[in-house]
Amino acid sequence: MTPEEGAEAAAGRAATAFAEAFDGAPDGCWWAPGRLNLIGEHTDYNDGFVLPLALDRGVAAAVRARPDDVLRVHSRHEGETRSVHLADVAPGVVPGWLGYLAGVGWALARDGHDVPGLDVALDSTVPVGAGLSSSAALECAVAIAWNELADLGLDRTALATAARRAENEVVGAPTGVMDQMASLHGRHGSLMFLDTRSMRIEQVPLDLAAHGLTLLVVDSRAPHALVDGEYAERHRSCARGAEQLGVPALRDVAVADLDSAMGRLDEDLLRRRVRHVVTENDRVEQVVRVLRSGADPRDIGPLLTASHASMRDDFEITVPEVDTAVRAALAAGAHGARMTGGGFGGCVLSLVESEDAATITSAVSSAYAEAGFTPPVGFTAEPGSGARPAGVTGRRRGPRGR
Ligand code: GLA
Repeated sequence: MTPEEGAEAAAGRAATAFAEAFDGAPDGCWWAPGRLNLIGEHTDYNDGFVLPLALDRGVAAAVRARPDDVLRVHSRHEGETRSVHLADVAPGVVPGWLGYLAGVGWALARDGHDVPGLDVALDSTVPVGAGLSSSAALECAVAIAWNELADLGLDRTALATAARRAENEVVGAPTGVMDQMASLHGRHGSLMFLDTRSMRIEQVPLDLAAHGLTLLVVDSRAPHALVDGEYAERHRSCARGAEQLGVPALRDVAVADLDSAMGRLDEDLLRRRVRHVVTENDRVEQVVRVLRSGADPRDIGPLLTASHASMRDDFEITVPEVDTAVRAALAAGAHGARMTGGGFGGCVLSLVESEDAATITSAVSSAYAEAGFTPPVGFTAEPGSGARPAGVTGRRRGPRGR
């Protein structure tokens, strides 16, 4: 199945679920992908650089505008329908998955937009808790639907910013903006090089197949227990590091000044946290330079592996499952491997010769079996397109048109 067919099929399932859950047909269907971050982890809330791609897995939303302010959502994945009045949405009051969607409406309304209620049916093909941004895909699918149905006229960066606010302020997760930007700005065949300070994007073409290469992704299936508290702790440590160094954000520490910065921090823990962010920003820029120069993409392998070591030793966000997967993939011939996403589980990506993908996947499975871990799940990834309308469900007309 091509990515386009995958999105269309998900939109079809969402439309069918819509008809079953609510009376009548949706005004339209929209699709937003999850993302895979090639490199640049925990740099986005430090004003730094990231280099993700949009996946061909995502969320399809069949949506109809309502004449009132009720947001009523049926999730196929969760097997439930929930609703909330948009006027009642506030930080921390909408628990669980509905908070991501209601939060987008809240953020748009806070920006002064007239946001109608919606009936929404969702179908998702992004595994939850795998570090592939299933939550950003949810937010972005409903953000583009609202933008179109209510004629908000917002550009994609404004929608990403609203979706991030939903997550930061309504859900209460202090994330950066990478996931939402990748979901909205992703482009087929390209990585998205994003400067999260200026929000400037440069699309960096990536055609691994032309070089006989594949991006292999292994879902570590490690239980995702500590994520929220640990993520917030990393965010706070980075802010403390920046404060002690007297810079607005860790982005402002150049890798050449790292030694001197280390000497000005008062705790070993902070030194390690800062070193991860500073060297990771540098690695992102190095990867972009290699890919832009037209050099052999195999050359980025060691940078990917160095990123993993930095997350494991300095930022301390890996777990035994992902370390095992990285080790096994490298031992079986991967050019580079690293955990991707927020950490404490999630997926490992490896840059491999296409002909070795199956052997490397089974090497990881064997290492897992030996360690007694839940068997991992592997798939290959290519840069796909960002959020868009999908499916043919008709009128796409806002509440003012009815
Ligand atoms: C999560 C957050 C992102 C980013 C990554 C780590 O996916 O949502 O903003 O911070 O973790 O790179």
